[in-house]
Amino acid sequence: MEIRVGTAAAAAAAMLFALLLSPAAAAETTCSGIVPMRSRSEVISIEEFGAVGDGRTLNTWSFRKAIYRIQHLRRQGGTLLHVPRGVWLTGNFNLTSHMTLFLARGAVIKATQDTEKWPLAEPLPSYGRGRERPGGRYASFIQGYGLVDVIVTGENGTIDGQGGVWWNMWNQRTLKFTRPHLLEFLHSTYIHISNVILKNSPFWNIHPVYSSNVVIRSVTVLAPHDSPNTDGIDPDSCSNVCIEDCFISTGDDLVAVKSGWDEYGIAYGRPCSDIIIRRVTGSSPFSGIAIGSEASGGVENILVENINIYSTGIGIHIKTNTGRGGFIRNVTISQVYMNRVGKGLRIAGDVGDHPDENFNLNALPKVDGVTIRNVWGVEVQQPGSIEGIKASPFTRICLSNVRLWGVGGRKEMWQCGAVSGTAVGVQPWPCAELTTTSTVFCNG
Ligand SMILES: *[C@@H]1O[C@H](CO)[C@@H](O)[C@H](O)[C@H]1NC(C)=O
Ligand SMILES: *[C@@H]1O[C@H](CO)[C@@H](O)[C@H](O)[C@H]1NC(C)=O
Ligand SMILES: *[C@@H]1O[C@H](CO)[C@@H](O)[C@H](O)[C@H]1NC(C)=O
Repeated sequence: MEIRVGTAAAAAAAMLFALLLSPAAAAETTCSGIVPMRSRSEVISIEEFGAVGDGRTLNTWSFRKAIYRIQHLRRQGGTLLHVPRGVWLTGNFNLTSHMTLFLARGAVIKATQDTEKWPLAEPLPSYGRGRERPGGRYASFIQGYGLVDVIVTGENGTIDGQGGVWWNMWNQRTLKFTRPHLLEFLHSTYIHISNVILKNSPFWNIHPVYSSNVVIRSVTVLAPHDSPNTDGIDPDSCSNVCIEDCFISTGDDLVAVKSGWDEYGIAYGRPCSDIIIRRVTGSSPFSGIAIGSEASGGVENILVENINIYSTGIGIHIKTNTGRGGFIRNVTISQVYMNRVGKGLRIAGDVGDHPDENFNLNALPKVDGVTIRNVWGVEVQQPGSIEGIKASPFTRICLSNVRLWGVGGRKEMWQCGAVSGTAVGVQPWPCAELTTTSTVFCNG
């Protein structure tokens, strides 16, 4: 990025702008090292399996046959399944290892709305039950289980969940089981998702769980702001996940880092660690960047930078609860720009419900080592709150250069409790619990 300026003041302003919005240094940093993009030695088209892209023909067997073929006639270097321009209606299907699902420009893979015939899947062990209904859950629309080396990419074709029927069932309380995710990987590694549009997921959009080495870049995720629980990207009990250059506008958290629910998550004990989230832009009635509230397996080593949030409920939201157990530690969030948010920052120990009555009230989460720096917000209704748990106060919370401007010059106060840490260069002035002295423990 080239900055040409006349005066020192303009230079300083340009530097600040560059720092906040698109630093030249960070623009060079990408996820590509974690899961490189690769080409395939064989290309097949969904049309070879009898699929018809007219938006009406149900192509479930074509997708399943094509993937069965890739799985059982393995080619060295893997196979690309090409989905051409057209609207390809289908029921849910599973991916297989060493494949690329390629959505050409104008290709739409559209989920059937036949919820009656939608297959069920086991609940996730770290949740003990479906997230919204007891028992199992509806299988995800496109799923990978126990896979290695899978790419979902193309020319910004669309995966459309047609979630409306599911949102209605949720709104009318007629759901029998937990709604399907749009794209889910379980127990998988070397997963690369790029240059696709995900639209109208019945539930969370992209859900990598118990997986490692996952790259999600240049992805667009869209769902109406009033669609229930349509989280954008939720890395859950995963390690080495890199999310970058995404635009997300949904009805729930844009990105939420998770690791299981209460006693089930504690027993399963698989943390979410080494997660990078950078250059994400978006809008939601709930949170921009969230950690939790399901974090019972622990969440650590999280790096979030260059985030642009507008018209959103809570900019940065770290949430946990009594009975949750686990930990949230070594989190660094920097270069965040917010415009029109209800609350800039919230770190809270009383968020989210419990799976059942068997959670352990003595399972207290530990929140330690959270650094939030270089945050710039305008039209922020409330700066925020940091309210720990009395029996397990939040420690080493570090705010530095956090500037949040109210609406119409109105000055709201921070709310704090059961927290210790520091604050330097915070506007409006934060609560007395955060001291202005030693910053030696701040991350990074
Ligand atoms: C997809 O994979 C899961 C897990 O291996 C399996 O239970 C399910 O039957 C598969 N679904 C289809 C449609 O093949
Ligand atoms: C797809 O969209 C992304 C933005 O998310 C853009 O950077 C990229 O150039 C587009 N790719 C194509 C092939 O149109
Ligand atoms: C904290 O997390 C960062 C990644 O965000 C990592 O580089 C660093 O090693 C971690 N620190 C500790 C003490 O684990």
